[in-house]
Amino acid sequence: MTIAPRPWVDEIQAYRPGAGSGSEDGSMAANESPLGASAHLGQALADAISGLHRYPDPLAGNLRSELAVLHGVDPEQILVGNGSDELIFLLATAFLAQGGHAVCADPAYQIDAISAVSVNARVTRVPLTEWKHDLAAMARVRADIAYVVNPHNPTGTIRSRAEIQEFAARSPAALVVVDEAYIDFTDDPDAMTAIPLIEGGRIAVLRTFSKIHGLAGLRIGYLVASREVIATLRKVRAPFSVGTLAQAAALNALNDSNHRDAVREHTLRLRAELSALLASHRLHAVDSQANFVLVPVPDEAGFVAALQAHGVSVRPGSALGAPGTVRISVPTEAGLGLLADALHHLLPLNHLETSDHS
Ligand SMILES: Cc1ncc(COP(=O)(O)O)c(C=O)c1O
Repeated sequence: MTIAPRPWVDEIQAYRPGAGSGSEDGSMAANESPLGASAHLGQALADAISGLHRYPDPLAGNLRSELAVLHGVDPEQILVGNGSDELIFLLATAFLAQGGHAVCADPAYQIDAISAVSVNARVTRVPLTEWKHDLAAMARVRADIAYVVNPHNPTGTIRSRAEIQEFAARSPAALVVVDEAYIDFTDDPDAMTAIPLIEGGRIAVLRTFSKIHGLAGLRIGYLVASREVIATLRKVRAPFSVGTLAQAAALNALNDSNHRDAVREHTLRLRAELSALLASHRLHAVDSQANFVLVPVPDEAGFVAALQAHGVSVRPGSALGAPGTVRISVPTEAGLGLLADALHHLLPLNHLETSDHS
């Protein structure tokens, strides 16, 4: 006889990562950095190697101190995790397990919902309005945690800090978790971090080194929250979940502002070019403040397969709760060229699809 999962675990559909394309330039399915990591990463890792026979610093003290200065908070208001995904699971374990209630957008960042269901919590999904979080509707849900992903994944849309502040004031949720994985790519003046709002104790903010810092493979992110929330999460975490190399890489990344600026400049420029390229093929992407765009397409599966055949991998929207769309990560310059070639081959098909209506 094999062991049976708890019934609520049985309900979960395992996370399906985006497919690779077989080439660096053609990989546009996972919102990774097209420019890689800091040029000084190799040295930072080499310097850390001599300490690998020791357990890592459990609280990533040096990194935590630098992050505290960066965000103007106390180190005790920060918890570093094995990617922000680990922190999302810790939040669920500590605040949602056994009958808690989470509210998130529909579509949501999938890990928010998976982590909640995995601890037998209820999840209320509130449909987006014009591709944005419907904060007024979410505020009517009596939840323990409300998740606001800002900019949102998979849409790239934002809510302003004032809207989030008003939501936190109106929502009965005990904690509002604002996931700012993509905040470094915003250029809309309304897009501001919610970190200054954590003081009241109702708001917690997630950040990651996987996106602008290009460290997705090392797994490191952090939560900025009240001292009480951080102290609670420390009780349920694995003490050495963040490795020595990840801590060294993150510290290096924080100190390489040139790389960060270059990735931001590239992402904003190529995001505009990507949207323009799609528009030239009559595909109108949702206005994005992130390092990807979501675009409605006439035939999602056919579109994804056709691009894949031309060496470009994108994420099918149905895998993200947004059927009828695809999500395309901002690529390298060469990647945009690959996509342009692929779309050029697909164009007759799109042209036929749309010509009846024009
Ligand atoms: C909104 C959002 N939050 C969190 C993550 C995960 O970040 P990490 O790599 O730090 O676990 C992602 C990754 O794509 C994301 O899109």
